Amino acid sequence: MATSDTDTTTTTDPILSMDDVTSGYGNTTVLHDVSIAIEEEDVACLIGPNGSGKSTLMKSIYGFADVQSGTVTFRDEDITGRSPQENLRNRISYVLQDASVFPNMTVQENMLMGGYVFDDDEQAAERAETLYDEFPVLGDIRQQKAGTLSGGQRRLLELARALMVDPDLMLLDEPSIGLEPRFIDDVFERIEQLNDLGTTILLVEQNAEKGLSVADRGFVLASGEIKFTGTGTELLNNEEVGRLYLGG
Ligand SMILES: Nc1ncnc2c1ncn2[C@@H]1O[C@H](COP(=O)(O)OP(=O)(O)OP(=O)(O)O)[C@@H](O)[C@H]1O
Ligand SMILES: [Mg+2]
Repeated sequence: MATSDTDTTTTTDPILSMDDVTSGYGNTTVLHDVSIAIEEEDVACLIGPNGSGKSTLMKSIYGFADVQSGTVTFRDEDITGRSPQENLRNRISYVLQDASVFPNMTVQENMLMGGYVFDDDEQAAERAETLYDEFPVLGDIRQQKAGTLSGGQRRLLELARALMVDPDLMLLDEPSIGLEPRFIDDVFERIEQLNDLGTTILLVEQNAEKGLSVADRGFVLASGEIKFTGTGTELLNNEEVGRLYLGG
């Protein structure tokens, strides 16, 4: 973790920021004047009710939703409206909330797709091998069609595939959804490991307590607006956040 739990100031240059972003789909507006900043090497967690716009926020960063006004900045560069391909090349990777594997392709082929921005295939194949060392479960089933994987195996594949580009920033939309408790712990352990290695992470998490407890910074989104920002601990201890969003 890059900041201590008591550090409430954000004085350094953020790796990613959204400034007054209003966005949605075509003429539909979902996010209203959203501003967030994420410090390098932090884990940031976004929580909020169903339909509040959490996935739309991630999509607005990555070019899957339409930014109607405002700016998205990555490492001091304006990336507003850039395509997912450009963002991937910029070492930002994204694990979508919904299943995004190619079901008719094997695990191996899916992994290689995650590295398609590499200049040569050999580099991608080497990277896949490195990741199989880290995720032996996937190495064992590399020739299996992705459509036949269990939910947990599929989530692992999505996570590993997002690592193909050795990302500086990872957007993870509910990485543990649908997994049994021991796999959830596994996913969170991976997230902390990745973070320890220097990857900045923006996480959407349904289990707000769990998400905030690993987060350096937390954001609460409701009705397309940021309602609270603070360290993970501050939000966990905030009486109003607890009452409204943590079911406490
Ligand atoms: N492709 C789309 N076109 C039009 N409206 C959309 C689209 N995707 C989402 N929406 C709408 O945007 C709003 C926010 O949805 P979003 O998926 O961002 O919420 P969420 O906070 O991620 O919810 P959940 O917790 O259920 O995943 C919803 O009203 C949804 O119906
Ligand atoms: Mg969502």
